[in-house]
Amino acid sequence: MQNKKPIIEIKQLTKKYYIKNSLFRKRSIVHAVNHISLDVYANEILGIIGESGSGKTTTGELIVKLNTPTSGEIRFDFDETHFRKEVQIVMQQSKEVFDPFMSVEKLLLEAIKLHQKLTKKEQLLEVERLLLSVGINPMDRQKKVNTFSGGQLQRICIARALAVKPKVLILDEPVSALDVSVQGQIINLLLDLHQKMNLTYILISHDLNIVRLMCHRIAVMKNGEIVELDETQKIFSHATHEYTKKLIADFDL
Ligand SMILES: Nc1ncnc2c1ncn2[C@@H]1O[C@H](COP(=O)(O)OP(=O)(O)OP(=O)(O)O)[C@@H](O)[C@H]1O
Ligand SMILES: [Mg+2]
Repeated sequence: MQNKKPIIEIKQLTKKYYIKNSLFRKRSIVHAVNHISLDVYANEILGIIGESGSGKTTTGELIVKLNTPTSGEIRFDFDETHFRKEVQIVMQQSKEVFDPFMSVEKLLLEAIKLHQKLTKKEQLLEVERLLLSVGINPMDRQKKVNTFSGGQLQRICIARALAVKPKVLILDEPVSALDVSVQGQIINLLLDLHQKMNLTYILISHDLNIVRLMCHRIAVMKNGEIVELDETQKIFSHATHEYTKKLIADFDL
């Protein structure tokens, strides 16, 4: 994989937050992401792990341009004119982003219309195809977003992300809000779509079992830095950094 050209090249990426401390009128600085460099290869599933507050979500937000870096750069191996089409994010609480009273059809049509030039009839067929691809009955297309279960909703969020035909999906804790039984279904769905649609995933997760199952490589973050990055198998069998060893030891595998 390393011989290939990366689809995303991250160089010395940094995000600092300046927090006002009213008591002493001083500013304190949080290095949410601290000079990280990272290559992501086309078609790989790259995991990002690390304790709470280590900078995983911030990294994902910077890659999808929901957040702007303090310094450093991210280069993409594709035309960025239509960036929103190429890189999509699926979050833990995606439902909070959507209007709960919107129908699923409308939600998907919004995304489809944004980046694909289709006739009205083709658009409706695309809604059907998308719903089928994530295991939602197209007969439910007129139902409102808030009438679906957590697992169904996460499927719809994935369908919406895929509606623009992206190259890269950032998955930030995509199943952690779901029941364990449903988690397995969504993971299988994600793996299936990854294969069928030639996608590249960046998977952020606390759950080392999920990361171990899904990812080709894993980056370990601590205090905004990547302290270790290696193939999944090596991370679990021969981690070199003490922090990685502790994360694995503390996790009930
Ligand atoms: N908007 C913000 N303003 C100030 N500090 C922030 C902001 N967003 C994040 N931070 C800080 O940056 C650090 C990294 O946060 P981030 O959300 O990236 O961590 P995370 O690894 O995703 O954690 P978790 O596993 O809990 O989701 C934390 O110390 C957090 O408090
Ligand atoms: Mg997070």
